[in-house]
Amino acid sequence: MSPRRIAIAIDGPAGAGKSTVARLVAGRFGYLYIDTGAMYRAVALAALRAGVGPGETNELARLVSGLDIRLEPGENAQRVLLNGEDVTEEIRSRDVTSVVPAYAAVPAVRARLVELQRAMAREGGVVMDGRDIGTHVLPDAELKIFMTASVRERARRRYEESGRAQGLTLEMLEKEIAERDRQDASREIAPLVQAEDAIVLDTTSLTAEEAADRVAMLANRAFAEAGGS
Ligand code: CDP
Repeated sequence: MSPRRIAIAIDGPAGAGKSTVARLVAGRFGYLYIDTGAMYRAVALAALRAGVGPGETNELARLVSGLDIRLEPGENAQRVLLNGEDVTEEIRSRDVTSVVPAYAAVPAVRARLVELQRAMAREGGVVMDGRDIGTHVLPDAELKIFMTASVRERARRRYEESGRAQGLTLEMLEKEIAERDRQDASREIAPLVQAEDAIVLDTTSLTAEEAADRVAMLANRAFAEAGGS
């Protein structure tokens, strides 16, 4: 029996496979997939365009409160709309990627996005991936996964996904990923940390389908434990 209407939180560092697996699991169960990283990326893009730096907290708070960020199902990936404009590709650029952690560390940014994320999850039936979902956004999620993989493997995946096309080397990506992990894990509010009740899933030697199988199995169990039928 498929689980219905539980919340599944998937946290972990960059390139661990969270978004691919979250999308697969959401598809299998007919759940809503919410890519919270895309929301932080959209804020960083808007701030870059407006020339507002991460240190300008009042300006940033004003900017964020006026943003309309939407996630919509697309053909392969989720489309990200920023004030109605499709920024799906642009938010993945290297320029945006490298500055997201600085903007994501600003309390006003997190407060606003967490509010939006909780509203999206209100009805249950969601798979949400990010850094602080199980610890902060949805602390009562019935299933919490902490997904990880070796830095080498995570860099390799990024290389295949977009790095090669962007003319990057594996070494560059390894360095960038390690630096982003460091920033995300060391910030003051809602840092990247494993929730006490999270189940660790190391995907280093798993395919996305295999990882999705594990999560689906755990979701079925969590659903049964939550009293579902
Ligand atoms: O896809 P990738 O793993 O590279 O990163 P992402 O999930 O798109 O997240 C991009 C950045 O957003 C992260 O490096 C964090 O700085 C920030 N983020 C966050 O602070 N909290 C979240 N719940 C999700 C992302």
